[in-house]
Amino acid sequence: MSKILVTGGAGYIGSHTCIELLNNGYEVLVLDNLSNSSDESLKRVQTITHKKLEFVNGDIRDRELLDKLFSENTFEAVIHFAGFKAVGESCEIPLDYYDNNVYGTIVLCQAMKAANVKSIVFSSSATVYGDPASLPIMEDFPLSATNPYGRSKLMVEEMMGDLFKSDNDWGIALLRYFNPVGAHPSGQIGEDPNDIPNNLMPFVSQVAIGKLEKLRVFGNDYPTVDGTGVRDYIHVVDLAIGHVRAIERLKSNKGVQIWNLGVGKGYSVLEMVAAFEKASGKDVPYEIVDRRSGDIAACYANPEKALKELNWKAERELEEMVTDAWRWQSQNPNGYAS
Ligand code: NAD
Ligand code: UFG
Repeated sequence: MSKILVTGGAGYIGSHTCIELLNNGYEVLVLDNLSNSSDESLKRVQTITHKKLEFVNGDIRDRELLDKLFSENTFEAVIHFAGFKAVGESCEIPLDYYDNNVYGTIVLCQAMKAANVKSIVFSSSATVYGDPASLPIMEDFPLSATNPYGRSKLMVEEMMGDLFKSDNDWGIALLRYFNPVGAHPSGQIGEDPNDIPNNLMPFVSQVAIGKLEKLRVFGNDYPTVDGTGVRDYIHVVDLAIGHVRAIERLKSNKGVQIWNLGVGKGYSVLEMVAAFEKASGKDVPYEIVDRRSGDIAACYANPEKALKELNWKAERELEEMVTDAWRWQSQNPNGYAS
């Protein structure tokens, strides 16, 4: 059986991906330092799948630990989720972001090279497209970054390009996620922000459950359908399945391969709020406030390359995204601490 090392596997996208890997017959070892997660997510992954996974509480920057894991296990590939992801925080503590996201990835790749494991799936982001000149976004659009978080993703993408140029045995999948939302349909795992959420959907969920008073909608004067920002929201289970497809593709294709993982359709903030209210039966009060600095008007993917090369397409519609998000929130009002 093939074994996959999943860094950051206890987190939001990682835990959902562990389910899809286990359900597709892979063995899984998760390396996570629990800096933004709880190992409760992994217990629940095992309950949902009726399968076991291994968990090591540790840091990707710990080279000694990585060497030990690579010598004790035969990994087919690494899926690399571990990192920090809050845009605003990255402007306050940029060095921490470069340390974790860039240096952490360097240490991981060095350990992989030493162990001769040369297949990696990396969590990149649509943020690397900056403010796109046109929509939908294709993989060959120009890249730019407006904050340290985005820059850390770009740096890693470029570094991986250099790595492949130096050694053509590497198989590298750069997955550019659009906006992951929703939760596993069991309601047992989902997104569990530590603090007040930065992202729209967890914020809306917490307003609906009564933990937060009202949503602040960042601007209604964008050139969009109703003036609020438009994004390509993708169900986290669809996103997770994309990782399994990328692993399968790497078995026969080397090189740096880039895929947008999005639905290909954009929804506005107010459309998301309306869909959430309908699914939950709860009111989501909101007020319009100023634009958030750094935000763009609209962003959605052209996902055709992933369809063609990975045979992957997002299957879950908006209603399923908000219904599953609400099931997770209402069954776990305090996340994994519930
Ligand atoms: P998350 O914070 O839920 O998961 C990241 C996990 O990595 C956490 O469990 C955390 O404890 C762990 N971690 C962080 N630093 C570590 C380290 N040095 N060593 C070991 N473990 C470490 O975030 P997520 O939403 O699941 O995102 C996963 C990846 O996808 C991240 O790299 C993120 O930047 C990227 N991404 C996320 C989004 C999004 O909107 N959620 C969008 C685009 C890209
Ligand atoms: N929004 C609000 N109020 C909030 C939060 C968000 O109105 O309280 C609006 C934003 O202005 C934006 C939309 O909701 O129009 C989505 O915002 P998110 O913060 O949920 O997501 P972003 O598109 O800004 O960014 C997310 C991740 C980034 C990632 C990017 C692309 O946070 O890390 O998607 O993948 F890079």
